[in-house]
Amino acid sequence: MENKTQKKVILSGIQPSGELTLGSYLGAIKNWVALADEYDCYYMMADLHSITVRQNPADLRRRTLTQMAAYMACGLDPKKSTIFVQSHVPAHTQLGWVLDCYTMFGELSRMTQFKDKSAKNADNINAGLFTYPSLMAADILLYQANLVPVGDDQKQHVEICRDIASRFNGVYGDVFTLPEPFIPKVGARVMSLTSPENKMSKSDKDPGGCVYILEKPEDIVRKFKKAVTDSDTEHCVRFDRDGKPGVSNLMTIYSAAVGKTFAEIEAEFDGRGYGDFKSAVGEAVVELLRPIREETERLLADKSYLESVYRAGAEKAGYVAGKTLRKVYKKVGFLPR
Ligand code: TYM
Repeated sequence: MENKTQKKVILSGIQPSGELTLGSYLGAIKNWVALADEYDCYYMMADLHSITVRQNPADLRRRTLTQMAAYMACGLDPKKSTIFVQSHVPAHTQLGWVLDCYTMFGELSRMTQFKDKSAKNADNINAGLFTYPSLMAADILLYQANLVPVGDDQKQHVEICRDIASRFNGVYGDVFTLPEPFIPKVGARVMSLTSPENKMSKSDKDPGGCVYILEKPEDIVRKFKKAVTDSDTEHCVRFDRDGKPGVSNLMTIYSAAVGKTFAEIEAEFDGRGYGDFKSAVGEAVVELLRPIREETERLLADKSYLESVYRAGAEKAGYVAGKTLRKVYKKVGFLPR
């Protein structure tokens, strides 16, 4: 089970705190699949992270399994990549605690996600929400990951992970590999369809703003038809992130879905109205997601196969993570058992 190939390592994950969104697909999963052959990959369902916000237990279990099926339906092959449930590998919480002791109160206070989530969950600003970044650092550092493919909003968390790792290495020598974020050129920040100044988010209160990857085609088409375009007088499809955030967001989605450049999209819709454009984007997304939804449903019908995948994933991940954890315990001075 050694990393015999000496491939570079990738780790990434998504919290099963809501249904998977088009944003997570374009910002993260699409790249996971693209990089899977070249790297030794670890992709997890980050269930430990998701309880920083209250979850309904039955929903959390269902979403964790559905998310795993969706990872595979998007193209991840469990024979090549290690797919696992974060809570199945206790080393995450074990290293998370150690790293808590090498993470500063001040740096955690500056985290954008902490500020956003505490504003949204003012009645539950728990310690887990605050120390979230050191658990995420543990996720990454346990596998000595070189690369962390994520959307733009997670860049700050990968940066603090590097800071924590450097601080630890500064005291104990080269224990951890310093990871780099890998952020896509198109799709790093997919915005809400109804309020394009905000990120598309699975926890959005307005369901019209967010497209889910397992959503029915007719709902997807309807959401795109209702998407906010811009109130400029120009009425043409042109990329201008600040001046035309709605149209630019739809162009980003279309570009990521069909692989066309912005110039090609502008030419395609030259002289045509926003209505035509929105329908075309909706149809393109339906076609992009259709095979993923169908394959996810097929996989979900075979629970014992899914269980065999996450058990094997936990075995492999646990082995690799255990090696790093033992090294860390030794370095900090814990008496061996
Ligand atoms: P999470 O669960 O919020 O999001 C999962 C991934 O999807 C990306 N993403 C987006 N990309 C573009 N546009 C959007 N609108 C959009 N919404 C979400 C996110 O950037 C992310 O890559 N902390 C992580 C989960 C995590 C993790 C890790 C990631 C836990 N441990 C270790 C990497 C490595 C999170 O909350 O992602």
